[in-house]
Amino acid sequence: MGLLIKNGQIVTSDSTYVADIWCENETITRIEKNIKPPKGAEVVDATGKLVFPGFIDPHTHIFLPFMGTFAKDTFESATIAALCGGTTTLFDFAIPGRKEDPVKALETWQGKANGTVCSDYALHLCITRFDAEVEKQLREVIARGVTSFKIFLAYKGSLGIDDCELYNTLRFAKETGTLISAHCENADMVGEMQKALLAAKKLGPEYHHDSRPPLVEADGTRHFCNMAELLDVPIYIVHLSCAEALREACDAKLRGVKVRIETLITYLLLDKTYAERPNFEGAKYVMSPPLRDKKNQPILWNALESGLISTVGTDHAPFDTTQKSMGKDNFCLIPNGIPALEDRVRMLYTYGVCQGRLGINRFVEVASTEVAKIFGLFPRKGTIQIGSDADLVVYDPAYSSTISAKTHHINVDYNPFEGFAVKGRCAAVTVRGHIQVRDGEFVGQKGIGQFLKREAGVK
Ligand code: URP
Ligand code: ZN
Ligand code: ZN
Repeated sequence: MGLLIKNGQIVTSDSTYVADIWCENETITRIEKNIKPPKGAEVVDATGKLVFPGFIDPHTHIFLPFMGTFAKDTFESATIAALCGGTTTLFDFAIPGRKEDPVKALETWQGKANGTVCSDYALHLCITRFDAEVEKQLREVIARGVTSFKIFLAYKGSLGIDDCELYNTLRFAKETGTLISAHCENADMVGEMQKALLAAKKLGPEYHHDSRPPLVEADGTRHFCNMAELLDVPIYIVHLSCAEALREACDAKLRGVKVRIETLITYLLLDKTYAERPNFEGAKYVMSPPLRDKKNQPILWNALESGLISTVGTDHAPFDTTQKSMGKDNFCLIPNGIPALEDRVRMLYTYGVCQGRLGINRFVEVASTEVAKIFGLFPRKGTIQIGSDADLVVYDPAYSSTISAKTHHINVDYNPFEGFAVKGRCAAVTVRGHIQVRDGEFVGQKGIGQFLKREAGVK
């Protein structure tokens, strides 16, 4: 019948103004003052509220077979949580094992999502092997709407690829106009440092950081950038955590390499002391690259506000405390990952916008618009304009709360931001005009999320 969002302060990446938004047939069809709703239309009163385009998480792991176990969320639990937090589209990663087929992996991830997913979603595909058969299949994957790929310079022996594969992956991306992102850590350095720490009986989660220090990430970052420079192809660096890696990426930018950088809400707000918490509590904060020294945080915030860093994701990878205990006697066996999907938007709003580190339009840009632009969804997603999908977040900035595992919606028994105060909550969230959330709770239809097909042609 149609949906009217009335009298809200609309905030996009480049403008802020008060108007009404009329949505019909899943899209935005009018943005004007004083729109009169036809009889029977649904009306959301957004007076005194902010209206953002639906937020987009560029980096989640919902279905994730990893380190001998599986991440805990389902596409249903994760996307309900995402929506409650204002994320209306997310990018998950289809990850074939080294011997598995890319097309099969794509079908596996779509099979897990379709029919249960409550937000819209797209997929990146991980390239864990590169040969003639994989290359053939990747062309089929592109035809099915996946135009971005991730490679791992870490995780040697499982997901990681070698330099010949990296070279050929980038060559392929250049030919097909697709985008390669990379997990940048020098895998050999990590392996040797892990061995040395274990030999010295340094076994607890607090040593995870020392097995992959900033120089290990910087080395991987430089390597990826050099290879991209050699082949003259655009790249995207996922989950950049520290100043050393940022400098390498910025150095490449200065040389003309078209490199986009993603950081994570966890790196902006948590630091390595969390992983040093006693009684194995630190295991909850083990991820790769690791949480860093706090001194990196102002550098990351400044890079984000100034445009050196393009996006903020979560790398949502939920493993519960039982799974984390797989590494009780050896930090190398702790499943790597921290859940953050539900809280990214309000944490970024509270500690970015409200604390003056990020302008409100830049907040929209890094958490939505830029993601849509980089990964081929703009202007369908990532903005509020006529013709865009009616993915809207009506945000009540006056609401205050405290993050807790007792009230979150993700399927894991802890919250890394436990006890953090947050400002604002989602008064309403729509996906293509369907109201999925009211007052921070899911009230919508399960399974209505769609897989978003994308075209090759990275800009
Ligand atoms: O620790 C992490 N980041 N786990 C998820 C897998 C990845 O490397 O992105
Ligand atoms: Zn990674
Ligand atoms: Zn990841």
